[in-house]
Amino acid sequence: MPLPLVWLDGRLLPLAEARISPLDRGFLFGDGAYEVLPVYAGRAYRFDAHMDRLDGSLAGIRMAPPLDRAGWLDVFGRLVHGNGGGDLLLYVQVTRGVEPERFHVPQPGTRPTVFACVQRLPVVATAAIENGVGAVTAQDIRWGRCDIKSTSLLGNVLLRWLAADAGATETLLLRDGRLTEGSSSSAHVVAGGCIVTPPQTHAILPGTTRGVIFELAGREGVATERRPVTEAELRSADEVLIASAGGGIRAVTTLDGRPVGDGKPGPVFRRIYAAFRATQREFSTELPA
Ligand code: PDD
Repeated sequence: MPLPLVWLDGRLLPLAEARISPLDRGFLFGDGAYEVLPVYAGRAYRFDAHMDRLDGSLAGIRMAPPLDRAGWLDVFGRLVHGNGGGDLLLYVQVTRGVEPERFHVPQPGTRPTVFACVQRLPVVATAAIENGVGAVTAQDIRWGRCDIKSTSLLGNVLLRWLAADAGATETLLLRDGRLTEGSSSSAHVVAGGCIVTPPQTHAILPGTTRGVIFELAGREGVATERRPVTEAELRSADEVLIASAGGGIRAVTTLDGRPVGDGKPGPVFRRIYAAFRATQREFSTELPA
């Protein structure tokens, strides 16, 4: 649930007073991009990586960034401190804005709608860390530009629902016999001690936590490889990891009801997870008061 103060079109206001027109293109067409970043102890985690990705998503949908880095830092600072700081998940939604007439082609000069809010960072249950989580697989039915963090999330919604139907945590997606990512996480397999991740293409989001895994693996001396992962490799992996801003890094220990490896979080997960916890402060940026 969002905390009481939100940011909308240039000001902080109570959520109960925030209003967006039904003619907003975000509502009519899903015409917008968004970002989600964790805030640990009031500090924005991987701020630059998230802002680089937002700029990339906006460029991908032919929009200019509505704010520069200093502007975003100021907004995030007001939002986070205004809601009392702590461990939060910060959402930023940028849509192409409100136009008087419904028309597919955007009109020049439309002012973007900028909305941001924070909620308490979901606490990952100790059992999910110690025992891992379950995932199911499904065909990746999404569009051809999954590298854009688009507000049009219908494919992701329907796919994630399949996991919920099965009592699992995530749906891992397969396109043309290869792993792409999770419905709301990046996915990695571990084989022979090496973390193997599908290459960055239009088929997957450039996950920021994925970037964290690569960096931590480098520090820890764990080998990494970016190459296509076949369905067979996914099903026979020693370990499977999922990573996202909201869920952190988790081990998938059952896939379609069958154990992954020995069915317990493996040594690579435990090492990377410990490093992830230990670097949260180092990897986060202080927000202006
Ligand atoms: N989702 N792939 C997809 C499809 C995602 O939705 C996400 C994150 C990721 C991981 O990206 P990151 O590590 O930067 O969070 C990969 C966020 C948390 C969300 O939309 O809620």
